[in-house]
Amino acid sequence: MKVGSWNEWDPLKHVIVGRADGTMVQAPEPAVVRDWPEHGFPRGTYGPLPEEMTAAANEQLDNFTRVLEERGIRVDRPRPLDFSRPVATPEWSQRSMFGAMPVRDVLVVIGNELLEATMSFRSRWFEYLAHRPLIESYFRTDPGMRWEAAPKPRLTEASYRPGFWEEYDALPHEAQIARVRAGELVLTEAEPLFDAADIARCGKDLFVQRSLATNAAGIRWLRQHLPEHRVHGVTFGNAHPMHIDATWVPLRPGLVLHCAERPAEEELLQHLKVNDWQVIHAAVPGREAPPPLSACSRWLSMNVLVLDPGTVCVEASETAQMEQLDRLGFEVVPVPFWDVAPFGGGLHCATLDVHREGVLEDYFP
Ligand code: ARG
Repeated sequence: MKVGSWNEWDPLKHVIVGRADGTMVQAPEPAVVRDWPEHGFPRGTYGPLPEEMTAAANEQLDNFTRVLEERGIRVDRPRPLDFSRPVATPEWSQRSMFGAMPVRDVLVVIGNELLEATMSFRSRWFEYLAHRPLIESYFRTDPGMRWEAAPKPRLTEASYRPGFWEEYDALPHEAQIARVRAGELVLTEAEPLFDAADIARCGKDLFVQRSLATNAAGIRWLRQHLPEHRVHGVTFGNAHPMHIDATWVPLRPGLVLHCAERPAEEELLQHLKVNDWQVIHAAVPGREAPPPLSACSRWLSMNVLVLDPGTVCVEASETAQMEQLDRLGFEVVPVPFWDVAPFGGGLHCATLDVHREGVLEDYFP
């Protein structure tokens, strides 16, 4: 048993795969207000995702687990909480939690350190508890593991721009993109905030997206916390940026998959170019839209999990994406996964790399 991983592609030995049990359409909160009237959850309402959907998602998650185990990868699963319970801190209360599916959002492993993210939604404040039984067991069995948690955020009204969503939703697309580039989204800079899924790991270089879940103070905290790394704060031309792994997905040294609909900054492209990295535009997804009750986009098609530099898991119906990766020389492992999307994401979101072989390298010398 060892905690250790430096990048998104070294040979995967041990992984956590999330569970769909009890996932909620969360109650409204300053960071997010769901509004899905045509699927039973109009604005202001909340509640568990339908049972049939939960069962279908769990079946795909269990199958994914088997696929990984058959390849000799150890798989652990979180212990879901009763996410329908209201939660509170001394400064606020929230009528529901969310779930235990996207493990990627909550935790990140960088070298021998397992770091718990701050998170920035009140409904997700306690999500780390679903993973604590596993983290505690890793800490007991791996003497070399560093266990860290970023400062617990307060998430008071001061952490959110008042009236943000009404104002933002009314803006034309160009103006929204300008706000994204300027980092003027729902989160203020009152305290460091980040979701772990806004981080893409490439050895010494970490690319961290400023988003609806990650602010500049969160990136600054990561930079101070990881002095041996180059932490690049990045944005993309995406009006609803949330987690980097359906936008910018490193596949192996020298190759990153990028969503062309969400342009990268020139500075980032230059950084890759001078280091001979290739940026490939991901294949167009097979579907027009994600399934109902999903907050994600159809670009989950590129949310792939690399098993080693020559092998990649891809959603089984995304044939164009599979063919593109096949042409790039990967063995492609098809995994049916679209039923999991309403629970928070795709194959990369659903997982956390606990251990990948390999050492810290500088891929941008
Ligand atoms: N917001 C992304 C999109 O819809 C999905 C990323 C989900 N990633 C995650 N780790 N939960 O394009």
